[in-house]
Amino acid sequence: MNDLKKDFPLLMQDEISYLDSASTTQKPQQVLDAIQHAYTSYNANPGRGMYTLAEEATEQYESARNTVAQFIGAKPNEIIFTANATAGINLIAQGWARQHLKSGDEILLTELEHHSNLLPWQRVVKETGAQLKFIPILPDGSLDMRKIDVLITERTKLVACTHSSNAIGTSVDVAAILARAQQVGARTLIDACQTVPHQAINVASMGGDFLVFSGHKLLGPTGVGVLYIKESMQDAVQPLSLGGGQPFEVDWDQYTLRKGPHKFEAGTPPFIQAMGLAAAINYLQEKVPFDALQKHEAALCARLIDGLSTMKNVTILGPVDQLKKQGHLVTFVVDGMHPHDVAAYLNQQGIAVRAGHFCAQPLFTKLGYDGAVRASFYCYTQVKDIDHLLQAVRSFHSL
Ligand code: ALA
Repeated sequence: MNDLKKDFPLLMQDEISYLDSASTTQKPQQVLDAIQHAYTSYNANPGRGMYTLAEEATEQYESARNTVAQFIGAKPNEIIFTANATAGINLIAQGWARQHLKSGDEILLTELEHHSNLLPWQRVVKETGAQLKFIPILPDGSLDMRKIDVLITERTKLVACTHSSNAIGTSVDVAAILARAQQVGARTLIDACQTVPHQAINVASMGGDFLVFSGHKLLGPTGVGVLYIKESMQDAVQPLSLGGGQPFEVDWDQYTLRKGPHKFEAGTPPFIQAMGLAAAINYLQEKVPFDALQKHEAALCARLIDGLSTMKNVTILGPVDQLKKQGHLVTFVVDGMHPHDVAAYLNQQGIAVRAGHFCAQPLFTKLGYDGAVRASFYCYTQVKDIDHLLQAVRSFHSL
């Protein structure tokens, strides 16, 4: 991984230790070039024009869909491009759950969820009379999996859970959750924003109904997310927006829709962004083998955890043993210092970290903290970035 940083212009021109990749990743030159190439060579509205340029744009857009599909083991028609992962979750909440759930039904989440996988379901339960339930966390931040058999019952109609916590890094055993959900006929949605960039995912062997992830967290541009809807579920899901590109036939008072994925993509889609995302996936496949990436990130986690553990005034949140084996982020608090003050101090030292509750406020309430500081890594993160952070945290003592 060590020579990858040179591909990232922002990291080369700016002397910062960028430790906020769980929030968004930096972009390699190859992706920036691909976006420029798309704007200069394929910029015409896909799926509409009869001229050559529009046909090429359509081909490139559908080719991006194929690239994403192959990357996660889906069929191309199961890949819907959305504005971001949050938009995908909202589409399933309003387009499926709101249509199918009623009083007495239950939606099961986990206590690890961030707001994007919580608020859409809070709205659905208000609208339908269904009830929200949560798989609790244990004190170390791992999920209490002993509870899944009692929590997933015939009343459970949907289990929506993160694959890995953005806030404290807990990795979730989704295979066990999906298996239990399938026993009772519950539908499942996996928020894979923090795993698709870091490990091989195959939705076909995983076996869920819906999965979301965002492009910008895996070296791609902002403005594009992916919603996977299993082919057999697509007729049961209604699009969230209606407009151009979706209809099969329209009259003054009625319409019929095309089949998915176009059924769900109203208006001009983020086609250049999708091409940029495909370039990001190509970059990862060429240069960042997932087994090497996971080893690299786990070693960075272990180095940071070991270093922080020697400091009496620092508490690490989350399952540290798991993070040292397969993590990509470390979250901590410095006793007596507000996380925002820690982040501001680190910023003065040229270190970019995220501080606060990471859009997972109820989780932090449960953990008993207002917030924390999070350092998160990706393929371009170097050992010297970790040492820079450790040295800066150590220097709090001498303030
Ligand atoms: N979900 C993103 C994060 O954890 C924004 O920072």
